[in-house]
Amino acid sequence: MQDVSVFDHLGGQIRRLCDVVGIDPATPVELLSELLGAHGSRPLDAPPAWPSDVADDHTPIEFSIAYNDSEPPALRILAEAFGTTPGVRANALATYDFLHAQAERYGLSTRRLEAVRDLFATESPQGDFVLWLSLVFRNGHPPEFKVYFNPEVHGADHSPELVARALDRLGLGSAYQMMLSQAIREGELGRKDRLTFFALDLQDGPQARVKLYLSHHDAQAGDVARAASVVDGVDPAQVAEFCELAGRTERFAGRPLVGSYTITQGAERPNGYSIYVPIRSYVADDQEARERVLPLLERYRFDPAMLDKAIAAVTSRSLDSGVGLIAHVSLRLGPPRPGMTVYLSSEAYQVFEGASLVR
Ligand code: TRP
Repeated sequence: MQDVSVFDHLGGQIRRLCDVVGIDPATPVELLSELLGAHGSRPLDAPPAWPSDVADDHTPIEFSIAYNDSEPPALRILAEAFGTTPGVRANALATYDFLHAQAERYGLSTRRLEAVRDLFATESPQGDFVLWLSLVFRNGHPPEFKVYFNPEVHGADHSPELVARALDRLGLGSAYQMMLSQAIREGELGRKDRLTFFALDLQDGPQARVKLYLSHHDAQAGDVARAASVVDGVDPAQVAEFCELAGRTERFAGRPLVGSYTITQGAERPNGYSIYVPIRSYVADDQEARERVLPLLERYRFDPAMLDKAIAAVTSRSLDSGVGLIAHVSLRLGPPRPGMTVYLSSEAYQVFEGASLVR
């Protein structure tokens, strides 16, 4: 299929996903086109322009369906923007340019982004990225934007201090030590327990959130249950149970469990916790992943039929012919929107074979 471009492929997936979720595709498709820029016209069969870590096959986009307890599901896109000549730093600059262009249009607040930007700036960033973003589409609402900084840009050893400074600048420093003391296993900060993302909502007002993500390598459900126990109103047993049902393993020795704390602007303590299970690392193929996710959706009273429709919007391959389409599954506890999220890979560049995927 020589003439299919990256934009054709991803745009088609987004259009069909919008259909499933009941959202007008015009804005999502337009934003995708701006995000991809000139790279969107690359042929799909050319190698990826940059080995983005957004998805395993280096597609710079990942889709997710966010099911909410008290409102219809939202469609979300996690993305990395590329510089003209892609590179970790060039991509971050392209992301800032994209966001500033959208800020005006959609009334976003970049105040908090600008307040911490210099902390994450460096000529020679470490790791795979400095800044990613996500777009959230809800029926009848303007798109919402979120940014994700890499706390390890100056190296894993400096990440605790970097996050402390960023939280301080936003007036949210007080809860940090408490979160770390529960979430980090003895001596593992920057080793098995890593600060992976520092995320901000690009809006102002009482709902504006900061999210701090921790990756727990080689962890057990009990480890994340302990991390979750810092947050009032969050049931640690529910977090552990979700990991067990999604992962069906004692020890998450493949891709790490990820937990995130939500800190709402002005709050002293985190008021939400989400757990992300990288289910693709713990199943033989996507058929098995689907069979685990469906009962979880039912358990939380979400429409399981929508998952099959969303899968069909993204791919026509049989689910047992590969693994990684269903990349993560997450449970969000606490305000503003408790629910579940299912992450779907575009697989624009590659489908991973079930048995051969490195576990
Ligand atoms: N691909 C990366 C990973 O799996 C980053 C990522 C994409 C991610 N979507 C995510 C991490 C959802 C946690 C949750 O780690």
